[in-house]
Amino acid sequence: MKKSQEFIPQVKKSEYNISDERAELMSAYIEFENVKKIYSMGEVKIAALAGVSFTIEKGEFVVIAGASGAGKSTILNILGGMDTCSEGNIYVDGTKISDFNAKELTTYRRYDIGFVFQFYNLVQNLTVKENVELATQICKNPLNIDETIEAVGLKERAGNFPAQLSGGEQQRVAIARALAKNPKLLLCDEPTGALDYATGKQILKLLQDTCKNHGVSVVVITHNLALTAMGDKVIKVRNGLIESIEINEHPLPVERIEY
Ligand SMILES: Nc1ncnc2c1ncn2[C@@H]1O[C@H](COP(=O)(O)OP(=O)(O)OP(=O)(O)O)[C@@H](O)[C@H]1O
Ligand SMILES: [Mg+2]
Repeated sequence: MKKSQEFIPQVKKSEYNISDERAELMSAYIEFENVKKIYSMGEVKIAALAGVSFTIEKGEFVVIAGASGAGKSTILNILGGMDTCSEGNIYVDGTKISDFNAKELTTYRRYDIGFVFQFYNLVQNLTVKENVELATQICKNPLNIDETIEAVGLKERAGNFPAQLSGGEQQRVAIARALAKNPKLLLCDEPTGALDYATGKQILKLLQDTCKNHGVSVVVITHNLALTAMGDKVIKVRNGLIESIEINEHPLPVERIEY
């Protein structure tokens, strides 16, 4: 079931204006290279990440698992440009995002990143359609709003407000909102943490299908080790370090996972 990473897509150097040396070294779509995140609390320093390295390929479905406090959200927030690392290098699609200033990070978050949170974070006084529309107004190549809402199964609910929807439906809106931006990366922090079993499965299926059908790289954080079976790649984090990285040659469709 596990194998080492054999598939190494080559980056076309001409597309990215990067040095020969870097082009030779670089292979992965996303690369974390010895990334550290140190929080200073007065005299005390907390290493939320103590040197984390991994790669993610384009179109890969990645599950990040680990105990509470392990550093999962820290990884996702740094990858999504919502936070910065203290040390190390981060490359996304040929660009070194760890060198970005605040303005460049804003652009990166706008155009390249779709984020899905545990508690949906919808705008309560906007309808489903307006919530999705709002996100597309700040990006370059948005998908069709109605089609995206239909794709998450909410065509009939487009005129409803979030409070009129179930938790699972609200999370669908959050996913539609993230997807409509047509992002390079869909980052999901415990997207089913607030949902019941069956609804959670539907949401994970939607994420897995999105990854396969749109070729977007999807990263999902979970506490639930049973869900690791659905990842193309499983990154286990422990105490701010990588505990293991496994490639599933045959990831399971989420419908076949019981947890
Ligand atoms: N702003 C901050 N200031 C100080 N310490 C922080 C800060 N943010 C996170 N930490 C610490 O960094 C560590 C990693 O936190 P992180 O939120 O990444 O964990 P997690 O794996 O996502 O946990 P959970 O599963 O509970 O969400 C924790 O010890 C946390 O207390
Ligand atoms: Mg977290």
